[in-house]
Order: sequence, then C-alpha cells, then structure tokens
Amino acid sequence: MSGDEGATDPYPLIDELRGEGGVRATPVGYAVYDYELCREILRDRRFGVRRSIDPGVPGPLRRYAERVVLPPSPIESPSMLAEDPPAHERLRKPVASAFTPRAVARLGDLVREVTTQQLDAMAAHESVDLIANFAAQVPAAVIMEILGFPAADREQFLRWGSTGAPLMDVGVSWRTYRSAMAASEAMQAYLVAHIEKLRREPGDDIFSVLVSTSDLTDAELMANANLLMAAGFETTMDLIGNGVALLLSHPDQLELLRAEPDRWPLAIEELLRFDPPFQMTARRALEPVQFDGGAPLVPGKSVLVSLSGANRDPVKFPDPHRFDITRPNAREHLSFGSGIHACLGASLSRLEVLHALPALFERFPDIRLDGEPARRRLFNVRGYSQMPVRLKSR
Ligand code: HEM
Repeated sequence: MSGDEGATDPYPLIDELRGEGGVRATPVGYAVYDYELCREILRDRRFGVRRSIDPGVPGPLRRYAERVVLPPSPIESPSMLAEDPPAHERLRKPVASAFTPRAVARLGDLVREVTTQQLDAMAAHESVDLIANFAAQVPAAVIMEILGFPAADREQFLRWGSTGAPLMDVGVSWRTYRSAMAASEAMQAYLVAHIEKLRREPGDDIFSVLVSTSDLTDAELMANANLLMAAGFETTMDLIGNGVALLLSHPDQLELLRAEPDRWPLAIEELLRFDPPFQMTARRALEPVQFDGGAPLVPGKSVLVSLSGANRDPVKFPDPHRFDITRPNAREHLSFGSGIHACLGASLSRLEVLHALPALFERFPDIRLDGEPARRRLFNVRGYSQMPVRLKSR
C-alpha cells in the first residue's frame, strides 16, 4: 500500500508537466516544476505576491474587479503572505520576534503534554481514526496556545479548521467555498471578541505580545491570526498524517528508525520532501523577466510554483520517487517555501512532528492501517481526512 491508493496521486502528472524543465505557458499564466527555477523565483525580488488584475483583462471588467472587496482570508491582503515589501516586513517582523526561543520552548512542553494525553486516550481503544484523535490534536493545541485561545474551545476550533481549509486551496466548488466562508465568518466574530479581550487582559501567549506591543491595526492582527491558524494547523496535521501513512507503507524505513532513532530528524525532512502538505504557491513578475533565452514573462501574470514538483525533480533529488530516510540532501526540499515568505513556523512544526511521530510508534509498536485512509479532496493542501488504524495486534 503506497499511502496513495484510492486517492489522487499528483506526481505522475507533475513529472509530465515538468517535462524538459523551464517555464511553461498555460492559458491562465505560467507554471514551473523544476527545482532550481522554483527556488530562484521564490528568492527573486523581481517577483511578488500582491494580487493584481491580469494584464489581459479588458478595461470595464478591470474597473469592476478593482472595486471588488474580498472577504478576510489567510491568502488575501493584509495577510503577510499576500503582501510585498515594505508592507510584508511590517507584518512579518513583529510575528517573527514574538516567536522567541523561550516562547517556542514553552510550546515544546505543550507538545509533549498533548501528545501524551492523546496517546493515553487512544490506548483505551483497539482502533481509532488517527487524524481526528492524534494528527489534528497536537497542532490545534499548539496554535491555540500561540493565539491565547482557551483550551476548552479546541473542538470548536477543529470544526472551523476543517471546514475552513478549502480557503487555502484553489478551484474548490462553490458549495465547499460557501461552507468554508461560513466557518471563516464565525471564526472572524470569535477573533474580534478575542482581540478585544486581549487588549483588556493580555495573557502570556505570543498573540498577546503582538496585540499589546506591535503597531498592527485590528485588520492586520486579524489577518495574522487567520494566517497562523490556516498555515500552522492544517499543514502540520497533514505532515503527521502523511508521515504515518508513508512509514506504515515502508516498513523497512520504519524498522531503520526503530533501530537508529537518531535518524528521525532527517526522516522528517524526507517526509516533507516526499509528500508536502502545501503543494504549490504563486508569484507574479513585477517587471519583464527572462530565463534561459525563453520569452520574457509578462508582468502581472501569475506564475504557479510547484513545491512538490521541485521536491521530485530528478536533477536535484536522484531517484526522486523513492522514499528514502537516509537521503543526504532531503532537507533542501522547498516544502517550507524559500526567500522572504519562507515559513515562519518551520522550526515549530519540525519540533511538533519530531516529538509526535516517534512517541506514536514507540507507544504502539504494532500500529497498522485498519482500512483505506481517505485523502482530503483538496488540490493544494495535501493530507488525509481519515485514517483508521489498529493500535494493538489482534
Ligand atoms: C508542516 C507544516 C508547515 C508547512 C508545510 C508550511 C508551509 C509553508 C509554506 C510553503 C510557506 C510559504 C508560502 C509562499 O511562499 O507562498 C509558508 C509560509 C508561512 N507559514 Fe508555514 N508551514 C507549516 C507550518 C507552519 C506553522 C506551524 C506556522 C505558524 C505557527 C506557519 C506559519 C507560516 C507563516 C506565518 C507564513 C507566511 C510567511 C510570510 O509570508 O512571510 N507555518 N508555510
């Protein structure tokens, strides 16, 4: 069982699209799948993220589009993910400096505590859904602690999280989008009240530091909170789920980890490389840019940057479709992006997964799949919605 059976495996198509490499022109913009080019575009200041109207859109439609006010979303302005310098730096700096070593160490204690609680609760059952009972719980507890949400609200938060996840995706149906928006609206109301409360009585969480010491406006604080929730919860949950599926389907690799636990940190990099939770991102050329004698990219047109394509580029990672926890350059994957928007939570999610996965396999040495795991039906956010596992041998 490959961990992909019964669900879409995007990698053969990605290989085909990478083809000879270089920039592909598509009807809706450009796309890149090879490692060096993806990395270069993410690090090149001639590319930006701010939404602009496609240069091909005719005048009246353009004027209409300029007036459209988009609902709050982790991938829309004023989220740092959707801003170019200098606004980007203004939004990112206070968040980065609130992630002090002391704050991250405290989160490490919480990760250990929640992991043990969940493993204890799971031990009472023979079979459980690993996603709901484990993979979702650790990252949710961490992100709630960062934002200063009461731990008692975790179940509500999890519901909003799973219903709102499609907002980070592309090409979702209208119906899915509507329910994601409804979850997001409920979440926004909760956040407004929460920020008001933290202004009156700040806690010792990271978000309280932002609320009380930064000069961010309420809209910017909301955007940052939305982004932390979306970027920090789903992705880490998916990394845990994808990791369990991969290790269970590669028992030789799991055996090696059991025999030599020092290999875990590199194994987690290989998990990230092999099946990244965030498959792609996008940029726009801010000026005409030309690569390797190709036609210049038209400024304003979107460039899809395939992070998973980069991670499976055979030029960078020989035999790229082999899951190999001893791969020496695995940590050069692009799963956390690169350049000025590189993931702010990379070390935190590594810390979470590096504790959660070994603890799970140590506590339940006989863990195995108990039915087919179900992939989430999303395009960009890649993970499982359900993964039935049997915890003890029959
Ligand atoms: C396995 C887990 C994670 C993955 C795969 C992941 C992936 C990414 C990627 C690919 C980007 C860059 C997107 C782009 O360039 O367009 C990003 C940005 C970001 N991530 Fe993560 N992320 C993870 C966990 C986290 C966590 C735990 C947090 C926070 C607690 C976080 C917060 C952020 C933020 C704030 C940004 C925006 C940075 C900026 O625009 O300057 N992420 N993440």
